[in-house]
Amino acid sequence: LVNRIPLIAGNWKMNLDHLQAIALVQKLSWSLKDARHNFGEVEVAVFPPFTDLRSVQTLLAADKLALKLGAQDVSPQQAGAYTGDISAEMLAKLDSAYVLVGHSERRHGHSESDELVGEKARAAQAAGLVPVICVGETAEDLETHGAAAIPLAQLAAAVAKLPADAEFVVAYEPVWAIGSGEPATSEQAEEVARALRESLRDLRGDDVAAATRVLYGGSVTSQNIASYLRQPNIDGALVGGASLKADEFSRIVQFKK
Ligand code: G3P
Repeated sequence: LVNRIPLIAGNWKMNLDHLQAIALVQKLSWSLKDARHNFGEVEVAVFPPFTDLRSVQTLLAADKLALKLGAQDVSPQQAGAYTGDISAEMLAKLDSAYVLVGHSERRHGHSESDELVGEKARAAQAAGLVPVICVGETAEDLETHGAAAIPLAQLAAAVAKLPADAEFVVAYEPVWAIGSGEPATSEQAEEVARALRESLRDLRGDDVAAATRVLYGGSVTSQNIASYLRQPNIDGALVGGASLKADEFSRIVQFKK
C-alpha cells in the first residue's frame, strides 16, 4: 500500500502584494508553529503571485519553515523572446517545488488549450518542478457530459506530454464550485477522483496511479476539509479564498479526519 502524504495547497490567485504576502506567511508560521511536527504527515504549499515569490522564498529560508512554494503558471518555453512569460528555470531558482498548470481561470480566461497545458507541465517537469495539473468541468459540461468526462480528457492530454517517470499532482476543481461557496459534496469529488485515478492506471500503470496525489479544489473551508480527506481517492486540497486568511488556512492544514 502506498502512503500518499496529503498536500494542502493555497492558491492566492491575484491577491496580496509582496508586503502583504510577507505578513500572511509570518502569521501563518505563527499559527502553525505548534503544528510543525505534523509537517511529516501533511505537506503544505503556498502559491503566491510571481511578484511575491522572492520575498516568500527568503522568508521561508530564513525561518526554516517547512512550507513549500509553488507558482500559479509557467511558460512552455525555456527562455528567449517571450515577453511577459516566466520560465520554469526561473521558478526553480526561487525554490518553487510546484507549479499550477491548466487552472480553469487560465483555461477559460486565457483560452489555454489542453495542448498548451501539457506543454507547460512538460516544461515544469524538465526544470525539476512538480506540475499540479488542474482539471475540471463547467456547469454546462456537467449537464452535457456528466462530471468525469472533461476532467479525464484534460488529464490524458496533459499526461501525454510528460515522460514516463514524471511526478505530477492532479487537482480536480469543478469550475462551478470555484469561488462559489457551493463546493462539490465529498461523494461527488470522490467519484471523479476515483475515475481520474483509474484512468491513470490505464495511462501510466498501477504504480503511478497508486502514488499520484489527487486533490480537490472548489470552495474548500475549515468546515468541509475533513469530509474530502476522508475519501480514499482524495489526497489533499487546492484552496483559493480560504488560503488568504492565516487563521482559516491553518485550521484547514490542521484538519482532523
Ligand atoms: O485553485 C483554487 C481554487 O480555484 C478554488 O478557489 O476560492 O473556491 O477555494 P476557492
